[in-house]
Amino acid sequence: MSVYVYDTPEELAGAAAREFADRAGEAIAERGRFAVVLAGGSTPEAMYGILASDYDDQIDWSKVYVFFGDERTVPPHHDDSNHKMASEALLDHVPVANVHRMRGELPPDEAAAAYEEELRTFFRTEEVPRFDLILLGIGADGHTASLFPETAALEVSDRWVVANPVLKLDAARITLTVPVINAARTVTFLVAGEDKAETLKKILESDADPRAYPARLIQPQGGPEWMLDRAAASALS
Ligand code: 6PG
Repeated sequence: MSVYVYDTPEELAGAAAREFADRAGEAIAERGRFAVVLAGGSTPEAMYGILASDYDDQIDWSKVYVFFGDERTVPPHHDDSNHKMASEALLDHVPVANVHRMRGELPPDEAAAAYEEELRTFFRTEEVPRFDLILLGIGADGHTASLFPETAALEVSDRWVVANPVLKLDAARITLTVPVINAARTVTFLVAGEDKAETLKKILESDADPRAYPARLIQPQGGPEWMLDRAAASALS
């Protein structure tokens, strides 16, 4: 596990954009393509904007295949859609090879099954797919992707994508499961803001129950990378 702390959210976003470009260059050089999972929420938006403005000609976007870690059960143009946020910040501005959208407008179980099928087709495998990079955030409640505390998706090991009922949201979310996230070559958490500080301490510096802090379930080979701003890191020893 590596932890990198940046003075401000802007510096964090800039460093995350550079990391994305480096991982893309490596993957394209070694395997001819970059299969990347984008995070939703608000934290990555600034980084996506920097990729769109400063890296439009530094990444071979024609070899970048974009996926999502999770999606809300809403249509693609809904303000809550992660696809909408990522499209407005990045995907509408760069010529990516393909964007694989989780279809939140479908009945949740159908959307999950369809996305899993899309992964099988893209990766042409029955083994757990290995993404080159998976970007994640954490919620103040310790969730990551849409793996929320005490929810059914946390235990799923025989599916790659599930519809996860989240009682406190009174909604289901579509999410990649733990095995898929842990199979990635690199998993990078982007965390900013004082409101995440105590949660981050629990995740990184305690033996808290992973059911209560699902981000603790994310243990890819070599451990995840944590890219933090100073406010989010303020409770770490
Ligand atoms: C989502 C995200 C979710 C997000 C965290 C942090 O769909 O909301 O995938 O896991 O990363 O909730 O969100 P913020 O970046 O907005 O704090």
